[in-house]
Amino acid sequence: MIDCFSVGRRYSKFVIFTYPKTNKKIAMKKLLFLLVLLLPFALLKAQSGTPGTFVAGKNAFLLNGKPYTVRAAELHYARIPRPYWDHRIKLAKAMGMNTVCIYLFWNYHEQQQGVYDFKGQKDVAEFVRLIQKNGMNCIVRPGPYVCAEWDMGGLPWWLLKKKDLKVRTLSDSLFMNRAKLFTNEVGKQLAPLQIQNGGPIIMVQVENEYGVWGNDQKYMETIRDNIRAAGFDKVQLFRCDWSSNFYKYQLPGVASTLNFGAGSNIDGEFKRFKEMNPDAPLMCSEYWTGWFDQWGRPHETRSVESFIGSLKDMMDRKLSFSLYMAHGGTSFGQWAGANAPAYAPTTSSYDYNAPIDEAGNTTEKFFAVRNLLKNYLQEGETLGEIPSNPEKTITISAIKMAQAASLFNNLPKANSCQEILPMEFFNQGWGSILYRRNIPASKVRRTLILTDVHDWATVFIDGKPVGKLDRRRGDKQITLPALSKESRLDILVEGMGRVNYGQAILDRKGITGKVVLTEGTAETELKGWQVFNFPVDYNFQAKAKFGTAAVTGPAWYKGTFKLTQTGNTYFDMSKWGKGMVWINGFNLGRFWRIGPTQTLFVPGCMLKKGVNEIIVFDLDNPTELSISGIDHAILDVTAKDETQLHRKPGQTLELSAWTPIMQDSLPAGPGWKAVSFGKTVSGRYFCLEVLSAQNANDPVTSIAEMELTGEDGKPISTLNWKVLYADSEEMNKANNGADKLYDLQESIIWQTEVSGEKPKHPHQVVIDLGEVAKVTGIRLLPRSDKSTVGNVKEFRVYLENTTPKF
Ligand code: GLA
Repeated sequence: MIDCFSVGRRYSKFVIFTYPKTNKKIAMKKLLFLLVLLLPFALLKAQSGTPGTFVAGKNAFLLNGKPYTVRAAELHYARIPRPYWDHRIKLAKAMGMNTVCIYLFWNYHEQQQGVYDFKGQKDVAEFVRLIQKNGMNCIVRPGPYVCAEWDMGGLPWWLLKKKDLKVRTLSDSLFMNRAKLFTNEVGKQLAPLQIQNGGPIIMVQVENEYGVWGNDQKYMETIRDNIRAAGFDKVQLFRCDWSSNFYKYQLPGVASTLNFGAGSNIDGEFKRFKEMNPDAPLMCSEYWTGWFDQWGRPHETRSVESFIGSLKDMMDRKLSFSLYMAHGGTSFGQWAGANAPAYAPTTSSYDYNAPIDEAGNTTEKFFAVRNLLKNYLQEGETLGEIPSNPEKTITISAIKMAQAASLFNNLPKANSCQEILPMEFFNQGWGSILYRRNIPASKVRRTLILTDVHDWATVFIDGKPVGKLDRRRGDKQITLPALSKESRLDILVEGMGRVNYGQAILDRKGITGKVVLTEGTAETELKGWQVFNFPVDYNFQAKAKFGTAAVTGPAWYKGTFKLTQTGNTYFDMSKWGKGMVWINGFNLGRFWRIGPTQTLFVPGCMLKKGVNEIIVFDLDNPTELSISGIDHAILDVTAKDETQLHRKPGQTLELSAWTPIMQDSLPAGPGWKAVSFGKTVSGRYFCLEVLSAQNANDPVTSIAEMELTGEDGKPISTLNWKVLYADSEEMNKANNGADKLYDLQESIIWQTEVSGEKPKHPHQVVIDLGEVAKVTGIRLLPRSDKSTVGNVKEFRVYLENTTPKF
């Protein structure tokens, strides 16, 4: 698109300064000619709006010079089918918003290196123009890293083909060069839509929550300069961090904002920020309306009360905010990401317990926000009308998956490798990978050690399953049966979402290290593999040779059904095992019987009148070969899984053989609390034992984050940490397992049981640090919401070289 603003400037320079005054007549003629030429562009510009200004002024944002409170709704166009974009924007406006905030996912637009796609569903400029047509402003967050529970936080998988890749750092030229090229492409799409050019874009974000990752100011300055150089030369830039880390780096010329969630204490969040930035306008750039779900964990919700209270606080203080998410939508296909450690893949439903649900319906939260915000409209603003959902909800009676194709009978052309390699080295981005070779006979049972399985594997001997490994549980080995003859070993590994947050983000899929066969003390690394790749593209699935005969094991299933009317529906996948579903060629996402999501959202626009086709790829034995379309989502049915609890029934921790390093007492109040051991202690097994809460009658322990300090004064790496024991965890009503102690998410806590029996102190958690570590102190962060339940007072710490007794 031509940027009329700069055309005009070029024109005026040319005419006014280049033509000699004496030749006025010719000059006038040429001027007229040029004006005729430029008319269409001028009209275009008129359509896209009058140029304006938006800046972070003294204690207020200023829109066209006047104080302005940003009320933004975060929407991700990649998570909303294009036919519904306009509806969701209108809904956001009806909820009381004046701005829409968007992320760009780099890996969505550049799925193969150098091939950029901004068309159709990926036409971000069109999404931004729609925002403007609806009379709203837009905030753009182009990354290059974004997080967002999106595969690899938006970074392209093909970067991982570089063995020593580093990301979010100046020290990796591949990362930096490719990130810059992508930013330039974003500039081509969106720079013309900056407010100063007559577009709706009022702010552009530099990187994302970099304070959680590092403190290299030069890196952030380079990302900032890349954004400016890509054409965002006039717009207000900003950065977002947390109250606990925003001060880790400075970024001149860029406004600063903070992220926090439902129920937060607003004064507490901005206390230090205000001290350090007394003149800055205040904005919560991500006010988390709910939270995302992880496979095998309870469904996440945030109550309307906790959410709306802090929002009112913000409005009363004229704080700007962005609701993350106003409407989450769906991470269709392979796009859902994961957190780690401990590895916790995100579900495809990104409903987020947000005010607008996954299918674009209003909820109680929606009306609570609308009712609140109607009291805070600014001059010239009106609440938008609530548009009706463009789709009706329909049901579809059980569709029989009449055809099937076994995976083992449909192997693609084999690749091979000597040392085992993850899928990226076979040019595969997502999906499953099968490693095959023979192993010798053995009279005794042997152990197969796989380091590491990313993310879920079934091991077969001569086609028969002998065990499964699940990265969520930290599984690394299985026992093989005795074999009377040389046998075929198959390891089928499914890659789930790539980690999108923290240091574990370089998350290659398949087997990332090696496979070792042990017999007694003898260890043999297995080399020389045949490799079969199973990508997620529809064309690949459609190629399977389907038949009507029954199959067992991993397989594709196909069914067709006729519709006379289309509409939104939810495929009930509760009788299926684990895999993906394609409807008329469109990948709806992942299902897994462990829940909490038991349905797949089927947008009405993906269905058609007449015959429709479903293909299911299932790795884990469905129990019924049919699928019904039901009229509601099932987001909250999690299979009971004792393995997710860090205490086996009847188990009690025996600490008598251990000597505490120290016993101490923490002061009350929010914020990180550091306690030094006064010496260096080394050991591999760490135990925190909480003896009492700040409130003497409170039996609960809750902690948001825990760090152990190394000899250099910095936190030691948590990458290989594993919780061995936790006396109690709230896992019925909430996702409050002990691994949340070091998940780097300050709003997510470890909490002892509060929904049923409330066990009393002491509360203990034991962590295997993965290696012997030298530790000099501990830092604990209490929960950051308004509640003080479970806040720690007295505690002891232990660090030893042998595991304690349970
Ligand atoms: C952070 C990130 C977002 C998202 C939220 C959690 O704030 O910036 O991208 O991951 O956490 O939903």
